[in-house]
Amino acid sequence: MSLRVDPPAPPLRGELRPPGDKSISHRALIFACLADGETRVRGLLEGEDVLATLAACRQLGLDARKAGDTWILRGAGRNGLRAPGGDLDMGNSGTAMRLLAGVLAAQPFDSVLVGDESLSRRPMQRIVRPLERMGARIETGPGGVPPLRIYGNPALAGIEYDSPVASAQVKSCLLLAGLYARGRTAVREPYLSRDHTERMLPAFGVELDGDRAVRGGSRLRGTALDVPADISSAAFFMVAAALVPGSDLLLRGVGLNPTRDGIVRVLQAMGADLDLRDVHESGGEKVGDIRVRYAGPLDGVEISAEQVPALIDELPVIFALAAAGQGTLRLRGAAELRVKESDRLAVMAQGLRTLGVAVEEYPDGLDIIGGAVGGGAVDGAGDHRCAMSFCVLGQVAAGPVTVDGAHNIATSYPGFIDDLARLGGRVERLQ
Ligand code: S3P
Repeated sequence: MSLRVDPPAPPLRGELRPPGDKSISHRALIFACLADGETRVRGLLEGEDVLATLAACRQLGLDARKAGDTWILRGAGRNGLRAPGGDLDMGNSGTAMRLLAGVLAAQPFDSVLVGDESLSRRPMQRIVRPLERMGARIETGPGGVPPLRIYGNPALAGIEYDSPVASAQVKSCLLLAGLYARGRTAVREPYLSRDHTERMLPAFGVELDGDRAVRGGSRLRGTALDVPADISSAAFFMVAAALVPGSDLLLRGVGLNPTRDGIVRVLQAMGADLDLRDVHESGGEKVGDIRVRYAGPLDGVEISAEQVPALIDELPVIFALAAAGQGTLRLRGAAELRVKESDRLAVMAQGLRTLGVAVEEYPDGLDIIGGAVGGGAVDGAGDHRCAMSFCVLGQVAAGPVTVDGAHNIATSYPGFIDDLARLGGRVERLQ
C-alpha cells in the first residue's frame, strides 16, 4: 500500500483518543491466557500485532470473546495450556514472538513460532541464550533468526541474568519463563526498559520477588484491566500538531508510564507547546490527556543512550520533527533501532535525504540538520512507524510526498489514516 500526502495541511484541530497501548495489550492477552478464571479487558488494541498474539493464545487454549467494548478472556491456567495444532504465526510482531517464547520454553509440549519477512530477519539469540541457560532447548533459523522450534521443558531453573541490552521483550520473556522455573529468576538491564510486565503481574496476583524478579510456581488470577491509549501512536499526532502552523490537538487517555514518556520531555526541550492534563493512575499505569499547540519552528536537541529506552519507538517521528526544525538533532546510543521492524536509522536517513534534508548516519544514531523539506517518493520499507512518520512530515513538505511500503500501519494503528484525515491532515491511500 502507498499513501499520498498533498501539502500544505491546514491547522490540525480537535480531539482524539489514540488506540490502545500495544505493549500492554500483548501482555494482557498472554497473562489472561496463563491465568485461572476470567479477565476482562477494555481498550485492547485490535491491530494486527495484537491479533497475532490473540490467535496464538487461542491456539494454546484461551477462550476469548468480545461483548460491547470489553474482551472477556477465560484463561487456560498456567498448567492448562494445550499443544498448538500447528505453527504459531506471530506476523510482524517481535513482542509476540519473544514473550510467548518464554512461556512455551517451559511447557510439556513442543511448538514452532514463525513470523513474516521482517520478523524473520530479527535477532532471537537475545532470548534464546538466556533461556538455554535456564535449561530450554530452542532451534533457530541460520544466524539466530526465526522460525523458533521450541522443545518444551517443564523443568527449567531460575537465573540471575545481566542483559546486555535494555529490552523489555528480553526481560518479559525471562520473567514469564521464570514463573515456571525452579527458584528465582531476576533480570538486570543497562537502563530500565518499559516496565509494563512488572506493573501488570501484581494485578494478576503475582507477587514480585524484588525489582524485575519472580519466583517459580506463582499462579495468575484473572482480573479486570483498562488499556490506556498508546503514547507511541499519540506521538504521530503530538508531532503533527507541533509541525503544522496553527494546530491545536487534545489527545485523550494516553499512557504516561515514566519508562515510555521520553517523547514528552524531548518535545518540550525542543520548544514544543505541550501540556499534560487530568493525570491520574489507572490499573498501575499513569494516564492523562496531552494538549499540543503549534509553537513555531522547533530547536535541535541531543538525545543520548540513557534516554533511548523511554522513547525508542518514537524516534522515527522525532526525526521527522527535527527535519523541519531550525536546529540539529544529535542522537547516539540507539543501535537498537537497526533491529526493529526495519533498520530504522537507515530507512529514515534515506527517506529524509530524498526529501532534501541533510542527514549524517552513524552506527548508533543520526545527526539531522533541520530546514526546508521538499516533496518526493519515500519508502516506509514495510515498517509501520517509518511510514507514519513520513506521512506526518509530508504535511509540511514543499511538494507532494508519496509513501510506499505503508501496508504495515495496521500492525499498530489500523485507523491512522482516517484519524489524520478527520483532524484536517492531508493523506490518501493510493492502492
Ligand atoms: C516492546 C519493547 C521494545 C519496543 C517494542 C515493544 C515491548 O522492544 O521497541 O515496540 O512491548 O516489550 P525491545 O524490548 O526490543 O527494546
